Amino acid sequence: MKPPSERVLGLIIGVFVLGILIPGAYGVVSYLFGSQLPDSEPFLERPEAKYERCVKETTYMRYHHMELLREVREQVVRSGIRGEITLDRCRDCHSNRSTFCNRCHDAVSLNVDCFGCHYYPEGPKEVRAAK
Ligand code: HEC
Ligand code: HEC
Ligand code: HEC
Repeated sequence: MKPPSERVLGLIIGVFVLGILIPGAYGVVSYLFGSQLPDSEPFLERPEAKYERCVKETTYMRYHHMELLREVREQVVRSGIRGEITLDRCRDCHSNRSTFCNRCHDAVSLNVDCFGCHYYPEGPKEVRAAK
């Protein structure tokens, strides 16, 4: 048998840990099953169906597009070598920055400061055309 003071301490720690875990889990669940997005809108807007693939594997793009963009920039700006992949071309398929790129970047509070120079509009095409 543990002395009573240890059991009380155990209980206090237990309550404390639960107090952290429950709101944490609630946060994760409500984030994943999202109250932040309007009903049935996907987190990431898929490109039009005619575009089947990204410029590289989807999983590679999901985690490494920043490295890819940095590499391409290095090639173009330092070595003058232009290839198939450019930042400009991303918007051929992912035409709306706010429902694609920004979704992830906002979720991790990242402010990507490329678009003061590189043209990449936010908002759906119809809205932009009307402006
Ligand atoms: C101060 C302006 C400026 C900023 C900010 C900037 N760029 Fe650029 N970038 C340029 C210019 C100018 C070129 C050369 C354009 C050319 O020769 O086509 C270039 C070229 C590139 C290229 C190769 C050409 C292309 O169209 O893909 C990539 C990739 C690129 N930048 C990525 C980025 C990324 C990613 C960021 C943000 C992290 C960024 N740039 C921020 C000015 C800028
Ligand atoms: C020819 C059309 C096309 C171009 C150009 C293109 N993409 Fe994609 N991209 C796609 C498609 C289609 C998917 C989804 C593939 C899938 O669902 O498996 C995708 C997926 C992605 C994903 C992963 C999304 C996720 O599900 O997590 C990222 C990130 C991405 N693209 C970034 C970029 C960037 C950055 C560029 C510019 C360098 C770019 N794409 C250029 C068509 C394109
Ligand atoms: C699936 C989620 C997701 C999508 C979609 C996505 N990004 Fe990202 N992006 C991230 C994350 C997460 C980071 C930060 C990675 C880090 O800092 O390690 C990042 C970082 C970047 C960076 C590097 C910024 C810096 O200052 O170093 C650039 C550039 C970038 N993204 C461009 C884009 C563009 C352009 C698109 C749309 C075509 C896009 N991303 C779509 C998740 C995403």
